[in-house]
Amino acid sequence: MVNLGVLVSGSGSNLQAIIDNIEAGRVDARIKIIISNLADVYALERAKKHGLPFMVVRHKEYKTREDFDQKLVEILKAHEVELVILAGFMRIVTPVLLRAFPMRVMNIHPALLPAFPGTHVWQAEVDYGVKFAGCTVHFVDEGTDTGPIIIQAVVPVYDDDTAEALSARILRQEHKVYSQAIQLYAEGRLEVQGRRVLAKGIPMFPDSFMINPPAGIFER
Ligand code: GRF
Repeated sequence: MVNLGVLVSGSGSNLQAIIDNIEAGRVDARIKIIISNLADVYALERAKKHGLPFMVVRHKEYKTREDFDQKLVEILKAHEVELVILAGFMRIVTPVLLRAFPMRVMNIHPALLPAFPGTHVWQAEVDYGVKFAGCTVHFVDEGTDTGPIIIQAVVPVYDDDTAEALSARILRQEHKVYSQAIQLYAEGRLEVQGRRVLAKGIPMFPDSFMINPPAGIFER
């Protein structure tokens, strides 16, 4: 069983997926505290609905990012949090948080890192014309979206995709892989070796391929 602290800033659909998977017994974790840096976000409605403890810590009330993070650390430690989950959290974390939770902060990014770091990734992916996209759960390090990758999911991109259609397709996979990453952690299966994260005892994806658009000429 791992104690989670979940940091949110918005809709909280990833938070909801983690809550649902905990309640369904698929993830051996308990959410000890949910912290939002903004007051009226739907993620807090989700916390209320499930009777989970939550707090609002307004980043604007702190002079520096470091002071804000120090407050987060105090709250997380006070709630005996072992693993910090960034779930749609829109603040860059500083070494203050990372030093308090070394290789114990996870984030989900809606792209196949290291491609498309940063924000507005869906439009960038559509505009670039990629044929596959996806999402990445990684441990957070001092860079932006650069930490060791734990798990990734891939989805096809269609010629008529809008950013909204693509983000919805990716989000469905986010809601699976984040809980999978937390469960691998809870089972003690994640071994970090430099940039790589090995999932001990878990068979890797079988040797296969995907081609988009489909290689029809080989089937005709
Ligand atoms: C998701 O696309 C996630 O990849 C990014 O924030 C978006 C919103 O997440 N980190 P949520 O619905 O608030 O969990």
